[in-house]
Amino acid sequence: MTVSRRSFIKGTASGVAGTALAAGVLAEGARVDAEAAASSGLVTRATYPFHGPHQAGVLTPPPAGKQAYACVAAFDCTVSNAADLVLLMYELTDRAWFLTTGGTPPNLGVGQPPSDSDVLGPVVPADGLTVTLSVGSSLFDERYGLASRRPLRLTQMEPFPNDFLDPAWLHGDLLIQLCANHPDTIHHAIRDIAKHTSSGMQLRWKMEGYGSPPRPSGTPRNLLGFKDGTANPTGNLAGSLVWVDDPAEPPWALGGSYQVVRLIRMLVEFWDRVSINEQQNMFGRRRDSGAPLDGNTEFDIPNYAADPHGYVIPLDAHIRLANPRTKATADERIIRRSYNYDLGVDENGNLQAGHIFIAYQQDLTRQFETIQKRLINEPLVDYVQPFGGGYFFTLPGVQDANDWYGQGLLA
Ligand code: HEM
Repeated sequence: MTVSRRSFIKGTASGVAGTALAAGVLAEGARVDAEAAASSGLVTRATYPFHGPHQAGVLTPPPAGKQAYACVAAFDCTVSNAADLVLLMYELTDRAWFLTTGGTPPNLGVGQPPSDSDVLGPVVPADGLTVTLSVGSSLFDERYGLASRRPLRLTQMEPFPNDFLDPAWLHGDLLIQLCANHPDTIHHAIRDIAKHTSSGMQLRWKMEGYGSPPRPSGTPRNLLGFKDGTANPTGNLAGSLVWVDDPAEPPWALGGSYQVVRLIRMLVEFWDRVSINEQQNMFGRRRDSGAPLDGNTEFDIPNYAADPHGYVIPLDAHIRLANPRTKATADERIIRRSYNYDLGVDENGNLQAGHIFIAYQQDLTRQFETIQKRLINEPLVDYVQPFGGGYFFTLPGVQDANDWYGQGLLA
């Protein structure tokens, strides 16, 4: 590791973050009109607070115009011991704080490689960036002596029936979710993080995604053409479903969240040959408005009790299996934060596009796995192909300037 506690403290507490947009001063000493740049729409100062009891990017409102770009990047840790893992966490904290606040990168002079790529120009805008750091179950193997601190339900994701998992797209010691208002902000952030941590962790896989604007209104659509995210719990209910509060969990994990990432290809060519009727029956919602098939508008609540045989909303419709809306299943609900991806064309000339399914919950077994098991043989499985992702644990928030990612886990 080349990072040190000193460099960590220097980078954050000395106030590099946040000074620059206000000053509008370029690293080279020239002046920039940050106001004009911001009002041009090319950059934005939107920030989400970095410090707090929970990390941003979990309950931060999902893509609907803002934070329409994302990436999930999995890393393998290459540090050889727990002390160096702590240094890596210092550095990650430093980078995430700076990038989500914005500012002027330090000027290292013309004789050294520059401290920043300048992909976003000389003054880094926050641009609504959130950095959300999670750990995988492999971090708790023998390397760093953390086995006794593993969150209770954190295991390695095993294939479900109908999965086609590809090792090149699976798992990781760490998972960084980035969400921001522009794609170059995502690129800049992951490049900055990878550069500053290159002696402590190595990229394993990365998937970039985007969310659509509401069309024509309401919730954005996925690449199967349906509004996606409509029934996500919000407000206090969301908080009560997502943050770990089980006293049986290791104390450091309280305030964190279990994160599931599933990379799911959509077989869009097949899908486009399916009648509207069948498509709607598969989801249980209308394609145009997003309304449940027994309702009129997007946010109408389906009434399954009034349709016990599934004449209106089939018993195997996605929304009915995912959330039967009974008392017994009420605490199984999850927070979904999904993005579309597009990887171009496969070897057969088919579009290689789909869904980055991201879900947060306080109990992986009670929530995601229970739902996923009910969905195993839903009719939709013929049109989608899960091939990657993993289970991760999103660390509790970085409380303040003296705190750092994973302090409770590692200190
Ligand atoms: C490619 C895969 C998937 C697609 C295209 C998809 C699409 C959708 C759509 C269009 C809806 C209805 C609108 C909404 O409430 O968001 C929905 C709802 C839902 N989906 Fe999925 N989904 C996929 C995978 C999954 C997976 C893997 C899970 C969890 C295991 C899941 C869980 C849910 C839940 C909990 C709801 C809300 C049901 C409700 O409360 O009424 N979905 N999904």
